[in-house]
Amino acid sequence: MKIGIDKIGFFTPNLYLDMNKLALSREVEPEKFTIGIGQEKMAVSPVTQDPVTLAANAALKIINDDDKSDIDLVMFGTESGIDHSKSAGVYVHHLLGLNSSARTVELKQACYGATAALQLAKGHIALNPESKVLVLASDIARYGLQTSGEATQGAGAVAMLISANPKIMTLEDKSTYLTADIMDFWRPTYSEEAFVDGKYSNEQYIYFFQKVWQQYKEETELRLEDFTAICYHLPYTKMGLKALRTVIEDGSKETQERLLDNYEISKTYNKNVGNIYTGSLYLSLLSLLEQQANLESGDRIGLYSYGSGAVGEFFSGILQPGFKDYLQKEAHEKLLSSRKELSVFEYEEVFLKTLPKDGSTVELDVDQDPAEICVAGINDHMRQYINKKQ
Ligand code: CAA
Repeated sequence: MKIGIDKIGFFTPNLYLDMNKLALSREVEPEKFTIGIGQEKMAVSPVTQDPVTLAANAALKIINDDDKSDIDLVMFGTESGIDHSKSAGVYVHHLLGLNSSARTVELKQACYGATAALQLAKGHIALNPESKVLVLASDIARYGLQTSGEATQGAGAVAMLISANPKIMTLEDKSTYLTADIMDFWRPTYSEEAFVDGKYSNEQYIYFFQKVWQQYKEETELRLEDFTAICYHLPYTKMGLKALRTVIEDGSKETQERLLDNYEISKTYNKNVGNIYTGSLYLSLLSLLEQQANLESGDRIGLYSYGSGAVGEFFSGILQPGFKDYLQKEAHEKLLSSRKELSVFEYEEVFLKTLPKDGSTVELDVDQDPAEICVAGINDHMRQYINKKQ
């Protein structure tokens, strides 16, 4: 049975910071951020968005009434969840008005959570071919002001509907994965911001890629030649390129050119949004699907997922006939082009404005945020959400 991505949508907040301006303010050369890191703009999340609303806004754009009744499993991959107990997915289930006969869970393994969800969705559909699974990948990446990770922040969500006979991409059966207990990036439960050993995390990302790619080659006998493109988890857009460069010479000149050209295209949205943790790999896939006009049905796309701590996985998908008709290229381009630029001062103000942690009640001004679904406040320790169209 063919199982894979039937629909894919994306959402990011309406505010961004220009990396050139951040560089000037931090007294580093702008090229360090734009070339060395590979980021042009960074999404900034207002207090009226959180991982729940980002995911709900992404999913709103892809699911219709039939999907709402067919979805019987919601899996929410995140590493910036809002509750130690309750799944962020349950809030989204309610905000979208999904069928109550559904399972809903949150999955956590840093930026790998959504890939785990995707693979579990595949197994669920193999057993239940009529069902549909909503996979959500949503995060706000925060490292803190004036830290070395500051330039690799971001915010956004990718929503994917997984089904049998998918319209966009089937997932191939073989995938290879690796787990090792390492401390390259983590966020203790008492901290709002992540701790990171930056250089070590880069090394481990590449080491995990080399291991799972080698194993994948051995087990499938596929080679670089067999891939139209390889998409990477992109904490910043230079990262995947560093990993790709370590293996690219195994391919012919033509293959090398194709993979490098497609890598450039696969970072289109990411370089304007920044790191969205669990969703970053899928935002890269979306960039490729929507911005590379030459893709054809039958093309094989490789995907490398990495979640610090750490788990890595290499897997692949095959594009389906007519897949372009089911993408939302114009809507996603408009989402990015209609954002409002913040000065560095304004970005710092937004960054520092967080929800109270002492149980006090707060009501937020959601009119400043054009998103349909927003955080409206906190009351009695409970986040209040609003769908402006209901
Ligand atoms: N022009 C062009 N390039 C320049 C430059 C200039 N003027 N100045 C510096 N550069 C280049 C550097 O040469 C370097 O390139 P290479 O890595 O290719 O050598 C690049 O800009 C970055 O410079 P530094 O290494 O000096 O930057 P830094 O010490 O400030 O830290 C970082 C960079 C480690 C990525 C840091 O931003 C960080 O810690 N980020 C968070 C961690 C992260 O994203 N890790 C990725 C792997 S882990 C993962 O993937 C999970 C996840 O999502 C977090």
